[in-house]
Amino acid sequence: LRKLARRGRPPGAPRGPPAAPLVGNLLSVRREPHVTLMRLSATYGQIFSLDLGGILTVVLNGYDVIKECLLHQSETFADRPPLPLFKKLTNMGGLLNCRYGQGWVEHRKLATNCLRHFGSGQRWFESKISEECCFLVEAMDKHGGKPFDPKRLLTNAVSNITNLIVFGDRFAYDDHDFQRMIEIFSENVELAASGWAFLYNAFPWIELLPFGKHKRLFRNATDVYDFLQRLVERSARNRTHHSPRHYIDAYLDEMEKAAGDPKASYSHENLIFSTGELIIAGTETTTSAIRWAVLYMALYPHIQEKVQREIDGVVGGLRSPRLEDRPHMPYTEAVLHEVLRFCNVAPLGVFHATCEDALVRGYSVPRGTTVITNLYSVHFDEKYWVNPEVFSPERFLDGHGRFVRREAFLPFSLGRRHCLGEQLARMEMFLFFTTILQMFHLRFPQGFVPSPTPKLGMTLQPLPYHICAARRWR
Ligand code: HEM
Repeated sequence: LRKLARRGRPPGAPRGPPAAPLVGNLLSVRREPHVTLMRLSATYGQIFSLDLGGILTVVLNGYDVIKECLLHQSETFADRPPLPLFKKLTNMGGLLNCRYGQGWVEHRKLATNCLRHFGSGQRWFESKISEECCFLVEAMDKHGGKPFDPKRLLTNAVSNITNLIVFGDRFAYDDHDFQRMIEIFSENVELAASGWAFLYNAFPWIELLPFGKHKRLFRNATDVYDFLQRLVERSARNRTHHSPRHYIDAYLDEMEKAAGDPKASYSHENLIFSTGELIIAGTETTTSAIRWAVLYMALYPHIQEKVQREIDGVVGGLRSPRLEDRPHMPYTEAVLHEVLRFCNVAPLGVFHATCEDALVRGYSVPRGTTVITNLYSVHFDEKYWVNPEVFSPERFLDGHGRFVRREAFLPFSLGRRHCLGEQLARMEMFLFFTTILQMFHLRFPQGFVPSPTPKLGMTLQPLPYHICAARRWR
């Protein structure tokens, strides 16, 4: 009843489609929400509003309005919505789902410093990624050119890069406990975008029902929490105070320094939540991007061949690809950018919320409004892209074949909450992708060309597919 009383758009709010009683617009955004929201923007404009079961939600579509809000009013749009699901999963603490405030500042700073000190900011870290690339090549080679699904291997390899920074260790490709943890964690990323999750946000009392996908989501979350807790304990063994070896050590140092400060946000719970968020945010997205890249190379052999020609010319077959090769490989860079544009691994980014009243294009957006940034619509914005529905790396090249940056390219989002792993993700994508194509020719098994339709969730990943990876060099 409290919800019903709150119904209706507040005066001055962006307009939007009519809402049904009780559920509002919930049912109309169930399937392919990113596509549906972009279609709705053709009728209601680049900024419009929805009633998601009593939750006022503003949707931003297209590059111009997303830039206006996330960049020009960065702080106003930096909060996360305290939706019942997020409250239940992380109590609005941790890092990715943390409310905008001191807790977020502390966790974001610590994570950024750790990425710099134990990861992408260090030259030696590149050789750790190359080492992981070798393990991956060896494991792929074991299939001897026969069809296999590369998902499990790629997930493990990619996740190991974040694992090095967070736990100081990698997990072997036959560590089934770790793989199971990642599997149920990524199942939750999918479930978090299901109709049941939206229903739970609108009507949290459905928790009392004996059925529903949200039940599985909560069970998975408990299992992941317990597993991470054991990993954290293991990583902290033999720790020397003030001499951190990884994120866990650095966090425990901060927690001890802040002991007794009632305002400090470091806690055992927030350590587990932020650790989980770093692992899953780093794994799910980057793995999907590389899986899409592999799929498109097999789908378009002429593009694969051009990338391989560039790799052969710049790197050759005797040494591993290095980051310093990147500026000399514009075509490869263009392909990886086009994969991120076209495949939209995080189509709606992560939900934002306003932390104060805002005014956007004459509309008022009250404090506490949930905001969806449709990043997919940026990458298919016809004002900035010619034939956006065509996969074409050439759009990132000039007439001389040199790589050109494009403005309306936001796979990592913008502003205060932009992805903090962007640099790491770009390093990983380049090194894994070039190593795979240096070593293997990729093709689909005879007669089994998969459809490039994505599997839906908070991220877009390819449906499972098999690939034959035939060795190019010995
Ligand atoms: C947030 C994309 C890789 C850690 C985000 C957001 C996007 C994104 C769209 C939401 C930003 C917003 O709220 O506006 C991607 C893509 C990746 C990738 C496309 C790979 C291709 C990574 C990696 C890490 C990471 C490797 C770390 C190891 C995070 C974290 C946040 C985040 C912690 C939350 C930031 C905050 O709330 O302050 N990412 N990401 N991501 N990403 Fe990534």
